Amino acid sequence: MTTSHTIAVLGLGRMGGAIATRLAAQDWDVVGWTRSGRTSGTVKTTGDPNEAVARADLVLLALFDGPACEQVLDDVRGSLRPDTIVLNTSTIAPAEASRLALKLGPSYVHAPLLGSVPSAAAGALQILAAADQEALDRVRPVLESLGTVRRVDDASSAAALKLVANNSLAGAVLALRDSLRQADALALPRTQTLDVLELGQLGGLVARKRHFLLDEPTAATAEFTIGALAKDVALLAAASNTPLRSATGLADNPAALDADIAVAATVPAVEDAVLEPLRAYIRGHATGDPTHFRGAFLPTAHIEGIRDGAFVSWPLDEYCTLFQGRPAPDEPTRSRRIDAIDVHGTVATATMTLSHGADTFTDIFLLVRAADGWRIANKAYHRHP
Ligand SMILES: NC(=O)c1ccc[n+]([C@@H]2O[C@H](COP(=O)([O-])OP(=O)(O)OC[C@H]3O[C@@H](n4cnc5c(N)ncnc54)[C@H](OP(=O)(O)O)[C@@H]3O)[C@@H](O)[C@H]2O)c1
Repeated sequence: MTTSHTIAVLGLGRMGGAIATRLAAQDWDVVGWTRSGRTSGTVKTTGDPNEAVARADLVLLALFDGPACEQVLDDVRGSLRPDTIVLNTSTIAPAEASRLALKLGPSYVHAPLLGSVPSAAAGALQILAAADQEALDRVRPVLESLGTVRRVDDASSAAALKLVANNSLAGAVLALRDSLRQADALALPRTQTLDVLELGQLGGLVARKRHFLLDEPTAATAEFTIGALAKDVALLAAASNTPLRSATGLADNPAALDADIAVAATVPAVEDAVLEPLRAYIRGHATGDPTHFRGAFLPTAHIEGIRDGAFVSWPLDEYCTLFQGRPAPDEPTRSRRIDAIDVHGTVATATMTLSHGADTFTDIFLLVRAADGWRIANKAYHRHP
């Protein structure tokens, strides 16, 4: 493919806009189209995707998701020339990528991208390209204007690898959120915390996203949105059919979906109201006073677990009789900590570890927001030997 040939870029969002601009700056003849009609910098645009596609030797897709790719390709199918290559850079599900590869045959190149807008602008993306050798040879000069090409066996694997890579990014964002919450709880200044985090494992992310992590996130335009990353981890969880913590961590994020992913790391810890029944439960153990348990649990709650090899299910009243209104003799050496809490609107789950002398317990709570506030609806526990 030479510079006299035309590239149609369909989708001029964050990535499509940056890609089209980069290719035009590298002397490729680019014509762009996007659903909203928005224009992109110096790139020529048209309001009709069929017009863009009819002129193109290469159609590059930078669309939000699989359904958008299928929709746009269906709309322009009649204008595609038989020798036109479709190069799809969108992050979509493995099954969606397979379907497109099957539908478009040897002229389809699935090429999801590692790296964000600044890498696209600098031609420094990492590109996972799956295609027949001939198609790959034809598009390679274009791909090399955008970054480094890494060949992958098939479209489905390229899509899956991209989702796995983005899950590691989601994990890093959630790890950063945990660190910032702990620092906030210890009243450490944000700038100082970021300075120190920048020296460690999350350093690259903190350095790239620092302006979003300070208390001025609106000052910068999102490069990669929470909505797009949440889409990717949800696709991964569905494709693998394996639980994925980052999927719920991002889906239940109160930050706006069109905010940059870094803003998800700045979301404050759960409100005190959800923690209150758990703290009352801790007070119950610390004092031995069952009144605290009655405040923590709903009256209908059961406390359940395996005791001496048999399943027990205590109603709250029965559980309260186990406490005599005074602390255990070894209370000064006992400790309890809340390990996790996940709030989903009016329900929540929580995990707590209790170190009680020779025994360590893991307590799993189901909480509900009742009319008079959050209460524990049920507890199940495991006693570690
Ligand atoms: N941003 C990143 O850092 C990054 C990095 C690597 C990969 N990706 C992936 O690259 C793709 C594009 O990401 P982005 O960040 O550029 O997203 P974006 O800014 O939200 O842009 C999405 C594009 O898709 C178009 N679109 C969405 N739904 C459509 C539909 N049903 N029909 C037609 N067009 C539709 C939008 O059109 P209009 O806005 O004009 O309506 C826009 O051009 C996504 O798959 C994303 O996961 C993003």
